[in-house]
Amino acid sequence: MSNEVLYEVEDGVATITINRPEKYNALNKDVVDMMHSFFQKAEEDPEVRAVILTGIGEKAFAAGADITAFPGRDSKTVRPFVENGQAVCNYIESLSIPVIAAVNGFALGGGCEFAMACDIRYASSNARFGQPEINLGIIPGYGGTVRLPRLVGLGIAKELVLTGNPIKADEALRIGLVNRVFDSVEDLRNGAMELAKILVKRPGVAIKLAKQSLNNAWEMSLKDNLSYEVDVFCETFDTEDKKEGVDAFLSKRDPVFKHK
Ligand code: COA
Repeated sequence: MSNEVLYEVEDGVATITINRPEKYNALNKDVVDMMHSFFQKAEEDPEVRAVILTGIGEKAFAAGADITAFPGRDSKTVRPFVENGQAVCNYIESLSIPVIAAVNGFALGGGCEFAMACDIRYASSNARFGQPEINLGIIPGYGGTVRLPRLVGLGIAKELVLTGNPIKADEALRIGLVNRVFDSVEDLRNGAMELAKILVKRPGVAIKLAKQSLNNAWEMSLKDNLSYEVDVFCETFDTEDKKEGVDAFLSKRDPVFKHK
């Protein structure tokens, strides 16, 4: 296995780091496949309760799909590649544990799309976001035309996708594409880890069900999603974590959840 994606676990937090610094962490097939298997590893490890996705260094989170793979590809041969990238983004979004994107530089094209598949986005002030595919005569394919309007609204998404122009971190914060901006990459990494360690302590079943219900907001009708929320709300009342959380509150102590 190459070292183009790194995986480490600390205190219940798995960090997945894209490691192609000389190519601004561009996403080739191996990188996307490795990311997929590391997200699966995190999901299957009961000790891991949160994931951070980031890029190595201070230049790029990921500067998009690897453009060197594009010449010679046509509508037929590009399909498995784009379907695979979308599937991995969907998998990240559907993970039962929370995923934080720590955006440490350029998040362009597929980089921006992978960040948008994560639950929470933190960025350093040098981060740049964009969907520049239009400049290559193509369009976003890892969910950019679908997740971006849902996150920032259709008008702003159209401007970003149709111009291909990148935006700075403070603008990304203003439009709601990121949750927080940090002065430096070091502060970003610390801030993302701090947030992850808070999430690790939260009850796992409730986290999973809350994520599902929140994700449904993009897909279901209001009526169906409200009814789904009632179902999963009731489900949490049969968990050990609910007993522990309520008992801890009433006994004026901190809860210790077992994620059951
Ligand atoms: N695919 C393949 N290689 C990429 C890449 C990508 N998406 N993005 C950057 N690289 C490579 C460059 O080719 C260069 O490699 P080289 O040194 O072997 O020539 C290296 O990363 C550094 O990039 P460079 O363009 O020299 O740096 P820069 O600071 O001038 O510009 C970017 C940085 C990110 C603005 C610019 O590289 C860029 O626009 N990349 C493409 C973004 C894009 O269109 N993404 C969507 C793809 S669908």
